[in-house]
Amino acid sequence: MTDAGFQRLLDRLSARASSDYYNPYTTFDWPPSLPADEFWFSPELLSVHGTQYAENLAPAQLRALSRWESVNFYSLNVHGIRELLIEVMRRVHTPGFETPSEFFHHFMGEENEHMWFFATFCLKYGGRIYPSKKLGPAAPAQDPRRENFLVFARILLFEQIVDHYNVHLAADDRLHPTIRQLNRIHHQDESRHIAFGARLVQLLWERLLAAGLDAEDRAAVSHYLADYLSASMASFYNPAAYRDTGISDGFALRGRLLNHPARRAAHERVLRKSTDFLTRIGIPLAL
Ligand SMILES: [Fe+2]
Ligand SMILES: [Fe+2]
Repeated sequence: MTDAGFQRLLDRLSARASSDYYNPYTTFDWPPSLPADEFWFSPELLSVHGTQYAENLAPAQLRALSRWESVNFYSLNVHGIRELLIEVMRRVHTPGFETPSEFFHHFMGEENEHMWFFATFCLKYGGRIYPSKKLGPAAPAQDPRRENFLVFARILLFEQIVDHYNVHLAADDRLHPTIRQLNRIHHQDESRHIAFGARLVQLLWERLLAAGLDAEDRAAVSHYLADYLSASMASFYNPAAYRDTGISDGFALRGRLLNHPARRAAHERVLRKSTDFLTRIGIPLAL
């Protein structure tokens, strides 16, 4: 990974990470509680949006769902960040990762802080972090080049999905300022991570291709990433959040929603940046 353009991008992103650096422990106002009669999550981002199940909920129940789905969203972030930190830490300053290691320090530092503010939100306002369901299919045993590519592809796709929600939540003036601030600040840091990840994933993919990848291997990669995206979207449908909202039989609701055409169309919109990116680098997905 000695690409000159990649090095320039890393230098620029590291410089920006330094100049934009903020103390997360003093940046946020954490009011003792958030208004229970307001939306905490934009209604159009809720897992029931666009379906008859949203219409069947009383207004107060829809707002309750928005509270628990916001706790679910930040819980997903906590678990996703832990997984990506483990993978990046395993690679920093190891052979093959000399070039991005300097930026990895910014990345790991920032993600540690993101995990802290997302966990703080969950515990302070929800009294819980929803436990992690194993995200996505287990990657088959494979050579390190392929594993490196899949690890950073997963990280990028996760960050792109989260960013879709962050951008929407930060701009939604129905939401409490603390909620908007959390999402705005996370989006600012993530714009660097996503610019970095897109370049790194493309380079790792080119390396993998150069090493020789047959049609069957390419199809396996494409299937794996498609499964990862589906599993990521499915994690927004949490039976525990339905239960906390007071909806009975959340498991059945989850199943019905996951097959609902309006929800499948919503997933396509959330995933568009990711699927466009993968298509651009030569990995079309069949979702
Ligand atoms: Fe983050
Ligand atoms: Fe990130």
